[in-house]
Amino acid sequence: MITGASRGMGAEFARQCAERGLNTILVATNADLLKTQADSIKKDYGVEVKTIICDLSREDILQEITPVTDSLEIGLLVNNAGVSKVRPFFHHTLDQLLKQLHVNARAGLVLAYHFGRKMAERSRGGIIFLSSGSAMFGTAYCANYAGTKAYNLLLAETLWYELGRYGVDVLGFMAGSTKTPGWDANEPKPSRFVKVMDVKTTVAEALKALGKRPSLIAGKANRLGYFFMGKMVSRSRAIRMVGRSMDKMFGPFDNVV
Ligand SMILES: NC(=O)c1ccc[n+]([C@@H]2O[C@H](COP(=O)([O-])OP(=O)(O)OC[C@H]3O[C@@H](n4cnc5c(N)ncnc54)[C@H](OP(=O)(O)O)[C@@H]3O)[C@@H](O)[C@H]2O)c1
Repeated sequence: MITGASRGMGAEFARQCAERGLNTILVATNADLLKTQADSIKKDYGVEVKTIICDLSREDILQEITPVTDSLEIGLLVNNAGVSKVRPFFHHTLDQLLKQLHVNARAGLVLAYHFGRKMAERSRGGIIFLSSGSAMFGTAYCANYAGTKAYNLLLAETLWYELGRYGVDVLGFMAGSTKTPGWDANEPKPSRFVKVMDVKTTVAEALKALGKRPSLIAGKANRLGYFFMGKMVSRSRAIRMVGRSMDKMFGPFDNVV
């Protein structure tokens, strides 16, 4: 089951899972896009595909999801759905920030709690949580987003340990900049410091890393960059470096209040 599978990385997770012969359940809000993805996966890989139209910012998500999943064994859960709008903190309404918190963090918690328990009882399964490089350092114009991604990372790493002993693999995957509709919607300007990855490579790295480690930063260049910043630069300097890079790519934001 892959959340946020109507486009971007979620759609690619679904394709790469189907390529391995897995039946898939695609969750998102856009019914037309979900149907298009489902039809194309069925045609290309011959697996069964179900879709669930569910707004993951809502409190009662299990009521929409479990009628479809109760009779099925969910072997792999990819908590991928995410909302990312790069802009200063006060340019969002509080309601938008709370919705983002629910989609990016709460929904993954609810689903991991529900399906992770069943996986542990069966002594097999896997859960991937989509984190981000922004989980590593405060990231300007992504305050709430970065907070949700740090939550995903630590939830995943901890469950990697706790559920690992029951045969359930868990991965916190820190995707870097990846060419998706969500990435494009923020209208980034090219940067010589940021290598934008293609979605196939990013997703393939995540699936390959599941079961091998608690977390992974996508892409060699990103791994090197974060290693350098973590070891060689003070935290305040790193946050300023990230902030200047965000200013160049997404700004300038003159009036932040
Ligand atoms: N692309 C990057 O550079 C990058 C970098 C680091 C981390 N990530 C993370 O990777 C994940 C995928 O990113 P992406 O770039 O592929 O995003 P995207 O292109 O914007 O796609 C987001 C997906 O989430 C779904 N979604 C959003 N709000 C939802 C809601 N309320 N209920 C259900 N589904 C919802 C969308 O479906 P509907 O609109 O149909 O609901 C869509 O399928 C996210 O968690 C993101 O934070 C991305």
